[in-house]
Amino acid sequence: MNILFYGYGSAASDWTKTLSRLLPQASIRIWEPGDASPADYLIVRNPPPAMLAARAGLKAVFNLGAGVDALLRLRAEHDCPALDQALVIRLEDAGMGVQMVDYVSHAVLHFQRRFHEYERQQRAAVWQPLPVTPKAAFPVGVMGAGVLGGEVAAGLCRLGFPVRIWSRTAKEIAGCTSFAGSEQLPAFAQDLKALVNLLPLTAATRGILNTTLFDRLADGAFLINVARGAHLVDDDLLAAIRRGKINAARLDVFNAEPLPAGHPFWQEPAVYLTPHTSAENDMTQSLEQIADRIQAIETGQPVTGVVNWQDEY
Ligand code: GLV
Repeated sequence: MNILFYGYGSAASDWTKTLSRLLPQASIRIWEPGDASPADYLIVRNPPPAMLAARAGLKAVFNLGAGVDALLRLRAEHDCPALDQALVIRLEDAGMGVQMVDYVSHAVLHFQRRFHEYERQQRAAVWQPLPVTPKAAFPVGVMGAGVLGGEVAAGLCRLGFPVRIWSRTAKEIAGCTSFAGSEQLPAFAQDLKALVNLLPLTAATRGILNTTLFDRLADGAFLINVARGAHLVDDDLLAAIRRGKINAARLDVFNAEPLPAGHPFWQEPAVYLTPHTSAENDMTQSLEQIADRIQAIETGQPVTGVVNWQDEY
């Protein structure tokens, strides 16, 4: 069995060495430009088009991440028949769930307990206790109820927030109120105090964090985006902040990454940003998951996490 790996620059050999221990029977190599030798499986993170061009006979392409929008773009812009012929499989959790729950819980609590305002008060040497909206009156909406969105919604429920989830097709998560489809988006968003985005990036979700949606939220609501920068219309957020519709935002992802010097988010006091670090997949857990799936495919067993290009995730 031949496995071709691409990603993580100089750390790629750490990944391939770990994978060799999990799949001792496999021949594993790191892709170099010009390598068109046969492979059964690709394991990739943001692969160059040349790696996929004219490649046939693949059984599966494993994406080293939850979001497959980079592969979707590759498929749209380049001739990559392999992406239609082979199974394309995303990581599920792989260590990211707990980090995402921590990141979003911290952000929601930070805003609900008004720590962002205490930071400002401290800089101005102001001693002024501020009233807090109780959790029961602080509904949080989670967009995207897949593996990570589901874990985040359940985590926020455990913290005692009323949680609504919104997804393309109806999902059930214990303790959460479920909304689905574009027709239920306004009811989902109505009067939310905090909106959390964990959607996959597709044609239908690009730019979904926009003025129309913000106008449904409670006045002075909070936005947390941990999915993709292209979900957000940056100018709509800045305008919503200026008119007080949105009090503050916690952003981990951006339309252009790294966020370009001079982008207004750098200087906007109501924007709290991190450099796409909300959740990093764990190497061992990712490779164990991939190795298990390779064994399953080799023995004709079903696997989860398979991308459906019709749905774009
Ligand atoms: C990270 O952004 C991922 O898609 O896993």
